[in-house]
Amino acid sequence: MSDAYHTPALLQETLEYLLTAKEGVYIDGTLGGGGHAEAVLENITPGGTLIGIDADEDAHSEAHKRLARFENHVVFVHDNVVNLKTILSAHSVSSVRGILLDLGVSSHQLDQGEKGFSYRMNNLLDMRMDNRQALTAGMVVNTDDDAHLAKVLWKYGEEPHSRRLARAIVRRRTERPIETTGDLAAVIEDTAGAKYRIKTLSRVFQALRIEVNNELENLKHVLADAVDLLAPAGRIVILSYHSLEDRIVKNFFAERSAVSKRSAHPLIPDTLLTPQLRLLTRKPVTASEEEQRQNPRSRSAKLRAAEKV
Ligand SMILES: C[S@@+](CC[C@H](N)C(=O)[O-])C[C@H]1O[C@@H](n2cnc3c(N)ncnc32)[C@H](O)[C@@H]1O
Repeated sequence: MSDAYHTPALLQETLEYLLTAKEGVYIDGTLGGGGHAEAVLENITPGGTLIGIDADEDAHSEAHKRLARFENHVVFVHDNVVNLKTILSAHSVSSVRGILLDLGVSSHQLDQGEKGFSYRMNNLLDMRMDNRQALTAGMVVNTDDDAHLAKVLWKYGEEPHSRRLARAIVRRRTERPIETTGDLAAVIEDTAGAKYRIKTLSRVFQALRIEVNNELENLKHVLADAVDLLAPAGRIVILSYHSLEDRIVKNFFAERSAVSKRSAHPLIPDTLLTPQLRLLTRKPVTASEEEQRQNPRSRSAKLRAAEKV
């Protein structure tokens, strides 16, 4: 694997938007293998600290190795970033200078295949970012009724043939359980037809991953908490990789940066009428052609950033 493969998407831009001081506490809420974290730590030490959070225990072992030289400036937290408020209060941190979220799954998680995120490898249908969680993709596929399955495929995969695929899944599992990514891919391939095979597989696998990890609801929650936790002039930078995530970030930033249209009312505090964020990116920043060539994952990356007012 080349080094370029490990280069985090939009690294320079991320640093420029995120870092405002060489001190204080920064959060990497999606630590992964620690690529972004390493670059942040190179820029904020010795004055600053990074709290690196990841729901996947395996990500931590990678990140530990990579960040070993920053031992005194990094705190590792194995948790879902949706619990950011609790995590920070457990570390007696009341406000932070910057929050980075590089959403979704890492190249490592996809390539390693063990979690069953990828239809390109045959593994158990797991898809849990955090192994301590009970719900797996196998449970969703083998126990949800076809109406719910169709809803998941439609809502989280924007799959146009969600009902047909859901019915096919339910039919297949009455013959034998759908245990592996290969079993699921076979049903999808039989139903979708060769021409739409790859797109359909991508949409179905994306939908199941989002459902299992409650990704979109968690994102809304963490965005709201992040605004409360940022110090004035603190920054939030989000990298997203599909339109459902990007839409949530875009709408959230737009709402929180807008001047409220409500007319002043003695019962509405001024704080609710003034914007909480200042947009730093009117349009999402995307990877350069060169980066897209070197790091295919960066092709779908969209960076949005905002500053706490
Ligand atoms: C795209 S990778 C991050 C890569 C990282 N920025 C780097 O440079 O190496 C996303 C990581 O975030 C983790 N993750 C995704 N959603 C999460 C969540 N809600 N809470 C905690 N970790 C999450 C995944 O387990 C994965 O390791």
